[in-house]
Amino acid sequence: MSETNVRIALVTGANKGIGFQTARLLGLEGMTVLVGSRDIGRGTEAVRALEKEGVDARPLEIDVTDRTSVLAAAARVAEEYGRLDVLVNNAGVARWWGPPGETDLDAFRQVLEVNVLGPVAVLDAFLDLLRRSSAPRVVNVSSEIGSIGTMTDPESPFHGMAMGAPYPASKAALNMITALYAGALAGSGAKVNAANPGYCATDLNGHSGTRTAEQGARVSLHLATLSEDGPTGVLWGHLAGASDPDAHGVLPW
Ligand SMILES: NC(=O)c1ccc[n+]([C@@H]2O[C@H](COP(=O)([O-])OP(=O)(O)OC[C@H]3O[C@@H](n4cnc5c(N)ncnc54)[C@H](OP(=O)(O)O)[C@@H]3O)[C@@H](O)[C@H]2O)c1
Repeated sequence: MSETNVRIALVTGANKGIGFQTARLLGLEGMTVLVGSRDIGRGTEAVRALEKEGVDARPLEIDVTDRTSVLAAAARVAEEYGRLDVLVNNAGVARWWGPPGETDLDAFRQVLEVNVLGPVAVLDAFLDLLRRSSAPRVVNVSSEIGSIGTMTDPESPFHGMAMGAPYPASKAALNMITALYAGALAGSGAKVNAANPGYCATDLNGHSGTRTAEQGARVSLHLATLSEDGPTGVLWGHLAGASDPDAHGVLPW
């Protein structure tokens, strides 16, 4: 096991998009970054790209929907590092089809598997390793459209938006999971928060987003590097509809 003061970070779904940029930004902060990917080939390619920027990146195979894969990843981190300082539950999928009345339940199940059960499986598998960190930080990558407060606010740009249930409901569930785990770890020095990257151009939305993946990743970076007096148990990130297009802050659950 390597003995080091360098912080060890794991980002799931880090082979592309916001996750890749998050791994990059954490690495540029001097952390050792475990680049989580369900396909080790794609993960290794991402690691090569990160190494070119001077980042200490290592590939870690982890399919968040596969319990064996998640437990094997945790066992490997336990053996090689003995702890985990930062966990970014970033892996996610979106399925937009099926407006109310036409919900595609199979698509819904797939979304829940990745976006909800995935982060829970990863959190549970890595909790002991996080507890061995002197300052654990957990970031669950959520969304403003998983915020019931935002979606029901008549002043919100998302109010009344026609949207199928699976993705927003999955992120609302992830918000609750964040609140519950933050509560469970309260007083331990751990910070467990949900991130709203804002609408970023990635494969997830056919690159229709108005922000860059790096801008979205800066939200996860902020929450992953919170100081001791930072918040826990909040949904924090981009504030769409604010007069400053780059405004960030706490969103309602
Ligand atoms: N883009 C936005 O506007 C936006 C806004 C709010 C929140 N988010 C959230 O941000 C996170 C990252 O999304 P993104 O926009 O960067 O999307 P993306 O470019 O499509 O990246 C998604 C990542 O998740 C991985 N993934 C999917 N299923 C997985 C599984 N079963 N196990 C492990 N990894 C898996 C993908 O791996 P493969 O390459 O192998 O498919 C990929 O690395 C998601 O949680 C998303 O919901 C995005």
